[in-house]
Amino acid sequence: MDLKNIIIFASGNGSNFEAIAQATIDNNLNVRIIELICDNPTAYVIQRAKKFNIPILIVDKNQFLNKKNREEFIVQYLKKYEIDLIVLAGYMQIIGDTLLNAYPNKIINIHPSLLPAFKGKDAIQQAYNYGVKFTGVSTHFVDRMVDSGKIIHQAIVPIEKDISLSELETRIHSVEHRLYIETIKFVLSN
Ligand code: GRF
Repeated sequence: MDLKNIIIFASGNGSNFEAIAQATIDNNLNVRIIELICDNPTAYVIQRAKKFNIPILIVDKNQFLNKKNREEFIVQYLKKYEIDLIVLAGYMQIIGDTLLNAYPNKIINIHPSLLPAFKGKDAIQQAYNYGVKFTGVSTHFVDRMVDSGKIIHQAIVPIEKDISLSELETRIHSVEHRLYIETIKFVLSN
């Protein structure tokens, strides 16, 4: 089977990273994760990548003058690979023109709300505090704006009466892990 090459960008815990990596091992996703790109040297996702023997590039934001400079370095570094898809999984940087122009229609993101509602940080808490009865998960192509771009898939998660915020977070994350794999398969086969 011809494997497609993906790169994952992440900054934090990395549960989505792990779900994708595990799916490749379970033969539920025919891709090769060629590298993890991480902007946070202390992120737990780095431990997860080591466990799966996935190469890691740490691009510490403090080592670069600005975003353009940092993204030029990443684009130059990635030139050695044939990349089918860039998967943002909790990557806490806004993607700039340098990366967008280098990989048009090849960068996707996952966001823990039903976009366009509750963009930005703490989306699960925003929905919880607002009191909506349904929230969920969205996957989308990345464009110049935050949590914008064409929506690929969405899944609904009800906010049941008396559910705690942490229970809701757990439910949303488990939906994310399933949905992102479906989205990666879908985008790579279209
Ligand atoms: C997820 O909720 C994702 O939707 C958002 O950032 C979070 C990353 O979680 N973009 P993890 O690091 O994959 O556990």
